[in-house]
Amino acid sequence: MSTSATPTPLTTRRSSNLHGTAAIPGDKSVSHRALIFGAMSIGETVITGLLEGEDVLDTAKAMRAFGATVTRDDDGIWRVLGVGTGGFMEPDHVIDCGNSGTGCRLIMGAVATHNFATTFTGDASLRSRPMGRILDPLALFGTRSAGRSEGRLPLTLIGASNPVPVTYTLPVASAQVKSAVLLAGLNAPGITTVIEPEPTRDHTERMLKGFGATVEIEDTAEGRLIHLHGQPDLTPCAVTVPRDPSSAAFPVVAALLVEGSEIHIPGVSRNPTRDGLYQTLIEMGGDLSYSNEREEGGEPVADLTVRHSALRGVTVPAERAASMIDEFPILSVAAAFADGVTIMEGVGELRVKESDRIAAMETGLKANGVTTSSTPDTFSVTGHSGNGVPGGATVAAHLDHRIAMSFAVMGLASEEPITVDDAAPIATSFPTFQGLMRDLGGEIG
Ligand code: S3P
Repeated sequence: MSTSATPTPLTTRRSSNLHGTAAIPGDKSVSHRALIFGAMSIGETVITGLLEGEDVLDTAKAMRAFGATVTRDDDGIWRVLGVGTGGFMEPDHVIDCGNSGTGCRLIMGAVATHNFATTFTGDASLRSRPMGRILDPLALFGTRSAGRSEGRLPLTLIGASNPVPVTYTLPVASAQVKSAVLLAGLNAPGITTVIEPEPTRDHTERMLKGFGATVEIEDTAEGRLIHLHGQPDLTPCAVTVPRDPSSAAFPVVAALLVEGSEIHIPGVSRNPTRDGLYQTLIEMGGDLSYSNEREEGGEPVADLTVRHSALRGVTVPAERAASMIDEFPILSVAAAFADGVTIMEGVGELRVKESDRIAAMETGLKANGVTTSSTPDTFSVTGHSGNGVPGGATVAAHLDHRIAMSFAVMGLASEEPITVDDAAPIATSFPTFQGLMRDLGGEIG
């Protein structure tokens, strides 16, 4: 099944200009982690700006199932009363992580060193995604599991009764795998070490420190070594969630493509491990200017102004891929309007996201008159420069929020309208997307 139970088509049309201030919701990665770390602390963690998207709400439900108290005040502040490191209880039902690979993999890590069994499932997209990348390192702690072929969900994880600390070198550049190992290491004695040959988003390390764990980071010839001292008493802290740069990417690219646009995005994360798209758009000639750079809740943030710009194609090097891994679908839309070819290298991980994002973007771009080519781990898009992108087709979102939003943005600047077959998955990460784009002046819906 490649649509949600009640598919909601979405059509976008060429728009005259986009103007205004875009209030981007909280960062998804930081939101998942704030709930999980809060649940593993002793006492109350207060979270401001939590993303209230389906993925994160599923993680909140899961934390309740393991014994934490998670509540929302009327003003949108979330409170997590944690059970302490090693304090999770056996859940009395299956943990349904919905569409969220991040939620599922991080929670698997967090419970892997607790002596009980948990059964995980998710939607059709999540049930098709590889979990072996998590199960292999968790087995080193003594965790056992039984699932479908290639470790796919539904699967049952039997937590280690006497966990041992682990040293693990990441075979793929994945913050989810890194974080699952570190979360498992929290309830193992001794020092757990993750070796990261290529840097990935570092929210887990930042938050571990914020919650009082001892973490030592060494930059070596082998890569980054992250040493975590196990079984700390995590102390609750106030978390301010920055606005999500991966969500901001959609209005940012829309403003670059739609003539006459100028939009403002206050308080967006500028974490360098998430900055690859923004660096690339500037290289393409995008008019992006940052002001008021500051730190909020342990993360760098700034205000961003974006103006319509003529873009040129660039080559995005493989070493940048991890810092923009969620942004390639929207970059390929920007590339379709640029002058020349954009080549994206080292992007094989896109094939195991919420959908095979290279295949989904190629099919949708071609249907809308754009030339593309791909190999297992590269993707190229030939830009139309000033000649207009035809549009006019209906594309499949494949239960993938970022595919749905990418084509919705493309329809705002293409000659003919574009329809996405199912916009329901957008609610997993950016529930206010349609309203926000409409308020900026987008012809949407
Ligand atoms: C995430 C890590 C990335 C990213 C995902 C969020 C995280 O996944 O695609 O949306 O919060 O750790 P991988 O670790 O699989 O690259």
